[in-house]
This record gives sequence, structure tokens and C-alpha cells, in this order.
Amino acid sequence: MNDLTTEKLTANSDGFARASAIWRVGGLVAFPTETVYGLGADATNDHAVARIFEAKGRPRFNPLIVHVDCIATAKRFVEWNDAADRLALAFWPGALTLVLPIKPNSGLSPLVTADLPTLAVRVPDHPVATQLLAAFGGPVAAPSANPSGKISPTQASHVEAGLTGRIEAILDGGPCGVGLESTIVGLSNEPTLLRPGGIPVEALEKAMGAALTTHTENDALVAPGQMLSHYAPGAKVRLDATDKQDHELMLGFGAVPCDLNLSESGDLREAAANLFHHLHALDAMGSKGIAVSPIPEIGLGRAINDRLRRAAAPRD
Ligand code: TXA
Ligand code: MG
Repeated sequence: MNDLTTEKLTANSDGFARASAIWRVGGLVAFPTETVYGLGADATNDHAVARIFEAKGRPRFNPLIVHVDCIATAKRFVEWNDAADRLALAFWPGALTLVLPIKPNSGLSPLVTADLPTLAVRVPDHPVATQLLAAFGGPVAAPSANPSGKISPTQASHVEAGLTGRIEAILDGGPCGVGLESTIVGLSNEPTLLRPGGIPVEALEKAMGAALTTHTENDALVAPGQMLSHYAPGAKVRLDATDKQDHELMLGFGAVPCDLNLSESGDLREAAANLFHHLHALDAMGSKGIAVSPIPEIGLGRAINDRLRRAAAPRD
């Protein structure tokens, strides 16, 4: 279904009022967070949440993150614990998602958790997201605002290209500062890294005073969305490249000749903010192949490499 008129909303009080009015009647609004744009809906409304899966073409077994305004609201939906307290106090609002046991009678649509006994919850750190959550006054379920399996959107035009006609509105809040999705930590058993992301693992371990268990590809469905082929541009991606071959465009890192550079100075924060934008742009240039410079496997480099490996993985 591609026949809706998708409104473009501005980040001002009229835009926030319109977006929350759409949410109240079960509609879908894409909105900026500091990580990537989210595709939001009322997390308590079954029909609205079902429409998120439809609009993205997302498999129903892949649960969604619920966005809330503060720690106290998060505690209404999940069984809190000491580790959650420590991480939330250190990193919320911010690019960290916590997975905790969901409370019975949470009032959330069971579609949000894909019937898992746990819920992923996050307090985003973006003035537009904050004001929208305040205007709406309830929990907002939001995956990244891209068709399932494609590159996440870091600006409104990316959302427009992927979802126009499938959602009621896009609220334009400019480019996302972090540019990578949140780091996801499972806290229902021993603290486990479920997805590297916008907060480096090193920072989380420092705040916890302990190492995180790392989720591996072999663990059965711990993070159901972590399918190997993901973030897939149209072009074939080749990693750890020192130069480009004939049919390729080069995505560089550091002082190297290339078509687009993630960060000439080799700054990982800058590279993270540019990653999805540059992949979208190289794709739009119609390249058949994208060669990518090596990225160091430290700090945000881990999350950048995770996304690049998925972009390069064989497609099914
Ligand atoms: O930065 C972000 O996290 C962005 C913004 C919009 O907040 N959201 C985002 O959502 O990246 P999405 O749906 O693209 O990725 C969420 C990931 C999926 O891999 C999903 O499987 C996992 O979180 N997830 C959600 N609920 C879970 C749960 N209860 N247990 C384990 N993994 C869960
Ligand atoms: Mg996503």
C-alpha cells in the first residue's frame, strides 16, 4: 500500500501538535532522534503498531524499541534492577537501549515485544523527540524509519525516499548527530551486549565497573533483529579496501584518495555521523560496488564495522 499522502511537518509547536494528533488516532509519524530517524506510533495501540510492521515490511517476530520521556516512565513498563539504574543514570537521555523483563499489565501492545517476555526501552536525547514525547504524553514504539533490511535514515530526505506514501507524516528535525542506532544491552540476565551502537562498549563497561557479555551470532534469537544481511545498499560492499576497482566507488576513512570520506582526520565520531548518509549518497550515485577503507575496531569503530559487515553480507 503506497497511497497515503505523507505530510512534511516542521519542528515547531504546530508540527509537534500535528504529530501527536496523528499518533492519537493510530497513525505513523517519522521523527528525528539523536541516533537515526524513528518511525513512531502509539505503543499501546495494536492497530498502529501493526501498521509499523506493514509500512517497513518488517517481520512480525522482530520486536520494537519503546521510547519514553524519563527513567520514571520506563519503570512503569519494565522490572527495573541495579544495573539498569547504573546505566540509565549514566547514559539517559541517550543512545542506549535497555532490554528488561516487561511488567504484566504494561498496557503496551503485545506486537511491540513480538510476544517476548522482555521489552526494549530508551529515553532519546534530541530536543524534537523530547518535545514530541511531551506533547503526546505516552510511550512511542519506533524502529528506524527505513524499509526493513535497508540503510537507516539520518535525515528527513532518507525517510522520504524510503517511506513516502506508506506513513502519515515526517517531522523534519535536520540531520541526526550520532548517526548510528543505539547500543542495546540486555539486562534480564547477566548484562549482555545485544547490538553495538552510538554509545561505545568501553564507556558502558566503565560505568558498570564490569565487562559485558558479548552476544554472538550463535545465540538463538537474543536480538531477533540482528540478521546478518542488513543495512543493505543496492551496491555490493567490499570491506578493508586499500583502493577501488574499476566498477567501484570508494568510501574512505583517514587521508586516502576516495569518492566520499567518512572522516579525513580519522575521527570515529565524525565517521559514525557520516556513515549512513554516505552509503545513501553512494547508492544514489548508482555505483555497482562500494569499496570501504579499514576502520579501527575500537570505540564507535565497533558499531561502524558491525553495520558495514552487515551491509557487505550476502543477501538472501
Ligand atoms: O537508535 C535506535 O535504537 C533507533 C531509534 C529510532 O531509537 N531505533 C532502532 O530500532 O534502531 P530498530 O527496530 O531498527 O532496531 C531495534 C533492535 C532490533 O534489532 C530488535 O530485534 C531489537 O532492537 N529488540 C527490540 N526489542 C528487543 C527485545 N525485547 N529483546 C532483544 N532485542 C530487542
Ligand atoms: Mg533498524
